[in-house]
Amino acid sequence: MRERLEELLNEARAEIEETGLKDALVGVKSKYLGRKGLLQGFFKELGALAVDERKRAGEFINTVKQSLETEIDSRLSAIHAEEQAERLKTEKLDVTLPGRARSLGSIHPVTRTLYEVQDIFASLGFGIAEGPEVEIDYYNFEALNIPRDHPARDMQDTFYINEEVLLRTHTSPVQIRVMEEHPPPLRIIAPGTVYRRDSDVTHTPMFHQVEGFMVDTNVTFSNLKGVLTHFLHSLFGDSIEVRFRPSFFPFTEPSAEVDIRCVICKGKSSTCRVCKGSGWLEVLGAGMIHPEVFKSVKYDPEKVSGFAFGLGIERIAMLKYGIDDIRLFFENDIRFLSQY
Ligand code: PHE
Repeated sequence: MRERLEELLNEARAEIEETGLKDALVGVKSKYLGRKGLLQGFFKELGALAVDERKRAGEFINTVKQSLETEIDSRLSAIHAEEQAERLKTEKLDVTLPGRARSLGSIHPVTRTLYEVQDIFASLGFGIAEGPEVEIDYYNFEALNIPRDHPARDMQDTFYINEEVLLRTHTSPVQIRVMEEHPPPLRIIAPGTVYRRDSDVTHTPMFHQVEGFMVDTNVTFSNLKGVLTHFLHSLFGDSIEVRFRPSFFPFTEPSAEVDIRCVICKGKSSTCRVCKGSGWLEVLGAGMIHPEVFKSVKYDPEKVSGFAFGLGIERIAMLKYGIDDIRLFFENDIRFLSQY
């Protein structure tokens, strides 16, 4: 057995010497040392030997095994070192190559417009409030002086979740939520998403509004005009003309809609597609907060007064950036978004 083992060791050594490749060497290793390798065969023979002979033979097989293991492993690391040296000789690192450019994202035009609006009102001392998008009937309608049978509920095509729960159709419910929690004086804007069953080039089922309101002991309609005129001048430039038109909302009295001069034709084209020849563009709904609204938040309408307004961010963004289809905001086309 000893002789056969020595013979095996010599054969293995010759093979190790011969192979210059890593893969081949791994093959040699499994041929001799693997679970079904040649050395295993010798271990199996041990059972047939007498006890003391078995011990000596076992020790010898183990010595052969160990020396084969070390020899193969050191040959493997030698080959590895050779390969690395070869690679270092041939590969070159060109440190003058330009780096890989990382593409930067840009701020979505709706977000950008929202930030601008928020900055203007922040500079006037307005704080920011938020409310839930899944709202209850009471806040979205009832407390805003829109009772169940009121025709104004037809003005807003509502997504109902059930009879009492809905997706808010405007940000006005935040007025109620803030006034319920805080006594006047208040200067608040409330940005957020709102939902209506509507979809065409100027309407999407989800869009963004900013609600604003100011309540104190002596807030007047001229305060409303002053604040909103300043706001529109800051947003569209001081030279833009602003017009207040009588209108109706159940939660404000009197109510107004606010127009700016058409940013496209400046009121000079009777065939302008954007203002439809009217020369004006509606940008805001506003008014003095209705006494019934104050009553529902337990404010005394004899003591406090206030104005409120609401605007659509997508509409403002379309006018500011000359975008003619609202759906572009939500298609996430990089070619569109990266322009802003
Ligand atoms: N909530 C109204 C709308 O969505 C806008 C508005 C807000 C009007 C506040 C007046 C006062 O159309």
